[in-house]
Amino acid sequence: MSEVLYEVRGIAKSFGDRPILEHVDLDIRRAEFLCWIGESGTGKSLLAKILLGLVPTDRGTIRFDGEDVTRFRERDWLTIRRRVGVLLQSSGLFDSVNVFENVAYGLKEQQLLPLDGMKERVAQSLAQVGLPGIETMMPGELSGGMRKRVALARAIAMRPEVLFYDGPTEGLDPVNVARVNRLLLRLRDQLGITTIVITHQMETAFGAADRVLLMADGRVALEGTPRSLWGSSEPTLQPFLRIARDVLSAPRGA
Ligand SMILES: Nc1ncnc2c1ncn2[C@@H]1O[C@H](COP(=O)(O)OP(=O)(O)O)[C@@H](O)[C@H]1O
Ligand SMILES: [Mg+2]
Repeated sequence: MSEVLYEVRGIAKSFGDRPILEHVDLDIRRAEFLCWIGESGTGKSLLAKILLGLVPTDRGTIRFDGEDVTRFRERDWLTIRRRVGVLLQSSGLFDSVNVFENVAYGLKEQQLLPLDGMKERVAQSLAQVGLPGIETMMPGELSGGMRKRVALARAIAMRPEVLFYDGPTEGLDPVNVARVNRLLLRLRDQLGITTIVITHQMETAFGAADRVLLMADGRVALEGTPRSLWGSSEPTLQPFLRIARDVLSAPRGA
């Protein structure tokens, strides 16, 4: 089994005459915690959508687990997406049904488990995000941090191999930011989930990720471990480093 799960080469995407992604090369390794940073509008969310088969690329190739998926049709992508969890900025919980129904949603839709198994999987997933026993609560009763964690429970209930997380901690207070970061790391460690986090939070990028990737000018401008980037003099990274050094005394990792 190759260490590389996603092999991305020469991805480009324009809307009208406006190029957003110009040439993206990227490897995503199995079970790594990879953080994408960059100014708003640099195409981070767009790149995630392309890697999920939700938006076709104009050029280049995408290999997933060794298979060229670039020209996949919708139904072929479905088999990939079963292995890939996605969490978007808004938690996306259904407010009219309780936590159990929210977490069980994907399991029911794909008819993956009988009812007993489903109850067990939901209980286990809620425990894994540190919210055991809240099945009968309604989303409206939950704090912002709890909602994010319930959304995460819904994603991991599907036992994904990969998790794309777009803006997991935006809008949370520092205590909850730290909690979600620890949780993502633990899930990666315990379940081996390849974790891709798009964020403006430098605590996450430099304090939790294994590797940080900076998007700028339609490409991956820079990538490296938090420690290797910490002393970088690359101009595009400086605004991010200033914030990182404000919120962290040292980067994660050796
Ligand atoms: N489907 C689309 N149609 C037109 N423009 C789009 C579409 N998707 C993204 N864009 C444009 O691409 C740019 C990058 O968007 P996005 O990926 O959301 O950036 P980021 O996540 O880095 O902030 C934005 O200017 C956005 O308007
Ligand atoms: Mg975005």
